[in-house]
This record gives sequence, structure tokens and C-alpha cells, in this order.
Amino acid sequence: MQKESPSACIKLKEGTRPAKVVLMPGDPLRAKTIANRYLEDAVLFNDVRNMFGFTGSYKGREVSVMGSGMGMPSFTLYAYELFNFFDVEAIIRVGSCGSLRSEVRVRDVVIAMSASTNSSMPACYPIQGTIAPTASFDLLESAVASARGIGVNVKVGPVFTSDFFYNPDPEINKKTMNYGHLCVEMETAGLYLTAMNAGKRGLSILTVSDSLVTGEALSVEDRQESFDEMMKVALETAIQFQDSISGSDR
Ligand code: HPA
Repeated sequence: MQKESPSACIKLKEGTRPAKVVLMPGDPLRAKTIANRYLEDAVLFNDVRNMFGFTGSYKGREVSVMGSGMGMPSFTLYAYELFNFFDVEAIIRVGSCGSLRSEVRVRDVVIAMSASTNSSMPACYPIQGTIAPTASFDLLESAVASARGIGVNVKVGPVFTSDFFYNPDPEINKKTMNYGHLCVEMETAGLYLTAMNAGKRGLSILTVSDSLVTGEALSVEDRQESFDEMMKVALETAIQFQDSISGSDR
């Protein structure tokens, strides 16, 4: 159980804790919706700054869901605290992204193998050169297998994590596409760096909400359908992870 916590932004409600595996959407109200829709017996564990976190169960295994906020500074703050102060072993980001390639269409589910970034965060780790923000292979393999098992078509590859939603360079999307990035979003590199630094596991599973190639964007109904597919893949991955560590000292 947690002792006196050094945490700045997570304060556990009495008698609660995060599970070993936490799903993280950007929007804290999305976290609440996920808890209500997919988890059984979900209990609120944090509401500091309204960044709601819930712990419940899915198919009998303990799973948490918590908002991350937008961008790497917000994401890494919460991920750091969960990994380093609350014994969380794996974080799975569930979010949206903009497609950078014609073969990645709106509604598709993307699993991020690695994340390039224009953020200076990778350069801040005290090694020579820069760290390559990379997914946990265990989680990646399990997510791909889960997706195949439930018939969800996923695209797996590198993504681009941007510090900008509104990038001042009008050519940026074309330049980023040239290196094979499947899509752009704003958090994955932060998750992968934080997980690698903590010796823990991170994976980003994303739905394509808009295409920067065609200009197409998802309708509200389509958004829900592809969101459900992403959530099923993420939840299956989470419970497989729980099973893989069960027997540990919790
Ligand atoms: N840019 C950054 N993040 C995003 C986008 C985008 O176009 N679409 C969804 N998340």
C-alpha cells in the first residue's frame, strides 16, 4: 500500500489505488465514460485538478483508466507519478490522431511502434545522443494479437508526436510523411520516454479521427464505432498484461 506520497498531482482517495495497468485517454471526462461503459465496480481514485482516475474490473481483472491532459508535459507528469509513485507497471494510451498517409484512413486503429517528436524531451535525458521513444514489445505484440483475435484491422508503425496542434510550418505534414510516420498526435513520445526511464511498459493505441492527406474527418457516429474498436483492443491488451503478472505481490 502507498506510504506518504511525494506525488504532486495525484492524491488517492481513501481505500483506493490504481491498478498495475492504466488506460489513459487525454480527456478526463472520456476516462469517466470509459469507466462507466467498460469497467465493472469502477471507483474514483483521483480527482485532483479534475484529472479523474478510476479503478474497476474488466472480465474479472483489475484495470484503471485516468485522463492525461493534452501534450507531453501533461502526459509525462501523470505517467511519471503513476509509474514511480504508485507502482503502476503499464500504461496504455487510448487517443486520437491525424493520418499522415493515404493508406491510413479515418476510423483506422493505429498502434504506435515508435514515436518521433519535435519535443526537446528526448534530448533532456542524460545520455549521449537521444533516446528513441519505443513501445513495449510485450504490449505491442499482445495488442496486435488481440486485434487479430477480435477482427479489428490495425496499422502498426512509427507515429509523430508534435508539440504543436497548430504547427507554424505549413509544410510540416509533408515533411513528416516522408519518413513513414503513420499519423500525428501529441503524447506518445512522452509515454514511451517515461516508461523507458522508469523501466516500465508503455503502448499507444490510436483511432484516426482526421486525415491530413484528404482533409476527411470522422462524424460523431463513426468516432464512437472506431473508439469502441480501439477500446476493445486496449482492454484485451490490459487484461493479458494483468494475467502475465498475476502472482506478483499485490
Ligand atoms: N495533430 C495533432 N494531434 C492530433 C491531430 C492532429 O492533426 N488529430 C488528432 N490528434
